[in-house]
Amino acid sequence: MSETPPLDLISFLRAIPKVELHCHLFGTIRHETMVALNRRKNAGISEEEIDGYYVRGEKPKGVLHIFRQLEKLIVRAPRDLYDITVDYLREAHAHNVRYAEFFWNPSGVLAQRTMTYVQARDAILGAIRDAEKALGIVSRLIPAIDRQDTPEAAFEMVSLVVEHPAPEVIGLGIDYSEVDRPPELFWKSYRLAKRRGLKATAHAGEFAQHWRNIETALDLLEVDRIDHGYTVLDNPALVRRCADSGIVFTVIPTNSFYLRTLPRAEWATKHPIRFMPGQGIRVHPNSDDPTYHIVTPTGAWFMMVKDFGFSIDDLRGFMTNGLDGAWIDETTRRRWAHAWAAEFDALRGRLTGG
Ligand code: ADE
Ligand code: ZN
Repeated sequence: MSETPPLDLISFLRAIPKVELHCHLFGTIRHETMVALNRRKNAGISEEEIDGYYVRGEKPKGVLHIFRQLEKLIVRAPRDLYDITVDYLREAHAHNVRYAEFFWNPSGVLAQRTMTYVQARDAILGAIRDAEKALGIVSRLIPAIDRQDTPEAAFEMVSLVVEHPAPEVIGLGIDYSEVDRPPELFWKSYRLAKRRGLKATAHAGEFAQHWRNIETALDLLEVDRIDHGYTVLDNPALVRRCADSGIVFTVIPTNSFYLRTLPRAEWATKHPIRFMPGQGIRVHPNSDDPTYHIVTPTGAWFMMVKDFGFSIDDLRGFMTNGLDGAWIDETTRRRWAHAWAAEFDALRGRLTGG
């Protein structure tokens, strides 16, 4: 009995094996680390400003400004990237994330000319390898396009990625503000990445941007996953198509846009995440920018239950969606699916009130 004590919901959600498919490296920096880096780099950001990064008010602002400050002022050496990545993977591991695919935008950092793509990439890959050795967590890197920059800058970045391949660099993403920056602008970068054997995903249908961006990501960019994708619900035919294809949508319960724009009393009942699974969309919950959203992988899963009303059976389905959406080989997928389902069920047997 003492070996299998009961679990409350949070402990259960922490214990279940997880993949994380939508987390931005620069969205994982802890407050103390940010303060220390700011000092060490003489970045000159006021402590008051930094404190503000970690406050999530009633109507949270987006986090993109923080990313710009990191790119311009703080992340200047390979060692910074190594340390940030180790920190992230340690924290993910503490939440029983067994496998993580995370985003990093190279362009903004490389524009500072303090390191080359290969130096920066190798620092992150060094951390990936060290974390796997020390903790067992397996992780992979997804370089992501800064969509507020030009399509030519994106192409330059993707050219570097494909000219310097590495086994842990497995796909291409795109993020930053989607407003007026539709996916078609970046078709050429995606074409190059796909031709060179990379997987692809795209932030689309975030910030209430048109469902067309999701369709374009599918048809023109040929993505293998969708990040966010909430406005798919505005087009029933597109919903059916996505449901039929089984493509996985990585969703973010703490996404700032709906917290800012929906009245708080209705936020949970009106949030698109609540409706996507019921319409056949395969979703998987993620932490996105955990330290600024003040969330963890466990917390993101908790919100799926507490805020959006999903059941433990639904969570088991989300776990499967995560494995099916992950860019792993089929043998590993089958092995993990089998083992994780057994672990999930054993943990569920200990869940109090479950
Ligand atoms: N990059 C990091 N976090 C992001 C977000 N929430 N939306 C778009 N791009 C991002
Ligand atoms: Zn994101």
